[in-house]
This record gives sequence, structure tokens and C-alpha cells, in this order.
Amino acid sequence: AGLDLGNGEFAAGVADALARVEDLLLTELSSGDEILTEAATHLAKAGGKRFRPMFAVLASHFGPDPAGEDVITAATAVEMIHLATLYHDDVMDEADLRRGAESANARWGNSVAILAGDFLFARASRLVSTLGPGSVRIIAETFAELVTGQMRETVGARGADPVDHYLRVVWEKTGSLIAAAGRFGAMTSGADPERIATLARIGDIVGVAFQVSDDIIDIASVTGESGKTPGTDLREGVHTLPVLYALAGDGADSVRLREILVDPATGEARPLTDDAEVDEALGLLSGSAGMEQARQRLAQMADDAHTELATLPESPARTAFASLVNFTVDRVG
Ligand code: FPP
Ligand code: MG
Ligand code: MG
Repeated sequence: AGLDLGNGEFAAGVADALARVEDLLLTELSSGDEILTEAATHLAKAGGKRFRPMFAVLASHFGPDPAGEDVITAATAVEMIHLATLYHDDVMDEADLRRGAESANARWGNSVAILAGDFLFARASRLVSTLGPGSVRIIAETFAELVTGQMRETVGARGADPVDHYLRVVWEKTGSLIAAAGRFGAMTSGADPERIATLARIGDIVGVAFQVSDDIIDIASVTGESGKTPGTDLREGVHTLPVLYALAGDGADSVRLREILVDPATGEARPLTDDAEVDEALGLLSGSAGMEQARQRLAQMADDAHTELATLPESPARTAFASLVNFTVDRVG
């Protein structure tokens, strides 16, 4: 499912900007080494929604120079950082499928996958350096948020409220980069500070909503649909929002889910090694009240995003942002 921007002049401009991002992406990811180039371009070539570049390009329409050279640079760098984290994430999650293709770690092993991610980050840093030290600082801070979120997810809630913990992790590992896309897009097109702050805030909300919808899809989809293996988070012992809500229920399904998913000795999530357990848990979760609660929470986030959007001047870019928000909610079905 894609995002429909219509077929007017505005949509053509956005499509043109995204095509320039695509060119720059593949140019920047090429190196003198054949294997490195193949590994580093693997995920970019496998597909992807280019959600973050789209976000940056749309944000640039709230400044005087939309889709200028710096906007393209910023949008490309943000996508490269995103891709870099996916290489590392698939190693940590032991995921073998990404964007419908073999993950880099499945194809070449962990070492090559980690190095490819590092290379993407190096090239993203080089691109951001052309935008000046202020931009380097923003990206450095965003990078630290991504790492913090991933770290916090890895070590678990450790006694904190699990839903609060989850939402914090999700903001850090996903919201922060989408906020950076909004901030960068607005900044590089010369928008004023207030606009930049608004677009960063919209990025915060949409980013969290985007990850929540991803986590719902991880449970609700069948293999092939999402381009990833469903239940990967459960297998790793990572409990996402629908799971946390379902575990908190008091019906027989919730009792059974707790037996499968929670270590009785520690009360913490336990990783699953048995495929039958994963299948049973997915079955119990897919029709659960927890899923419905997560969908409702997602709808609330979309409302918040629309409220924030309403403070921006009416324009094709604002309309596009609104449909991007709706897309985030609608894709969970
Ligand atoms: C995907 O989550 C993971 C992230 C959005 C953040 C990953 C962050 C890092 C690996 C930090 C360190 C990065 C580098 C380059 C040093 P997920 O596993 O829930 O999503 P998925 O279903 O797409 O795998
Ligand atoms: Mg993952
Ligand atoms: Mg992960």
C-alpha cells in the first residue's frame, strides 16, 4: 500500500524530489569495493517506503526553498541512517527477512551486515557535514537517541511500567529519527524556528504511531505481507504494545499468554524458541482485546497528529501530511 498524493503539480514536485533522493542514495552507497557496495546497497535496493525522505520533503514545503539541494541531502542522509540501523537491528533480532528479501546477516553473516551498517552511517555523516555543524549536532543527538532506545529495549523494563517503557523506547528508536526528518526538511528549506519545531513535534507523534502500527502488523500479518517474519519480536522476548495490553487482561487467553510469554521466576519477558509456542501466541493475540486497545491508542495518536497539523497553514503539503497520518493508521487494517 502506498501513499496517494494525487497527480497535480505538487505531487510531481514531491516525486521528483524523491527520485533525486534515490539517485543520491545509490551514489553515496557505492564504494571502491565490490562486496561492500553490494552489501551496503542491498537493503536500499530491496525496496522500502522511503517514509522518512517523504517526511523531510513534505516538511520542506513549509519553508521558502522546498526541495532545494540541501533538502535532498538531508532527506537522503536520514534514510541512510535509518537503513544503517536496520542492518544492525536485523543482527540483534536475528531476523532473516527484510523488505521481502534475505536480510544482510542471513545472506553474508553478522560481520558483513554490521560493517555495511557502519558504512552507511559513515556516508550519512559525510553528507550531513555539508549541511554545517548545527546539522551534525542534531544528527549526533538523534543517533544517541536511537542507540538509547535500542539499549533500553534490549535490557527490558526492569520494574518500570511496561507501557511507559514501551512508549519511551518507541519514541527513542523510531520517533526521534522521524522528528529529525521533519526538523531537517523544514530547516534546510529555510523555515522559521517555530515551523521547524512544529514539524519536529509532528515527527515525534507520527514516528511513535508508525512504530505502533508496525508492531500491530508484526502480530496481525502473515509471512509475505509485511516483507518480514511475523512474531520476530515475540521470539526475541520483546513485548510490544498489543502484547502488553493482552498480557494485562484477565480472560483465559491472557492467562495462557502469560504462561507462554512471561518467565514465572522473574516476571520478565521470556524469549521463545519453540515455533509451536510462537504460533499459539500469535493466534491468541491476533483476535485479542489487547490488539483492539493498541488500535485505539494508535487512533488517538493520529488525532493528536491532526491537531498539531491544524496549526500549519492550509496547503497541499499539509493535506499530504494528513493523508500520511491516515496511511499510518489504515495500514493496520
Ligand atoms: C527496528 O525496530 C529498530 C529500530 C527502529 C532502531 C534500531 C537502532 C539501532 C540498531 C541503534 C544502533 C544503530 C547503529 C547504526 C549503530 P524493530 O526491530 O522493532 O523493527 P523491525 O520489525 O523493522 O525489525
Ligand atoms: Mg527488528
Ligand atoms: Mg529490533
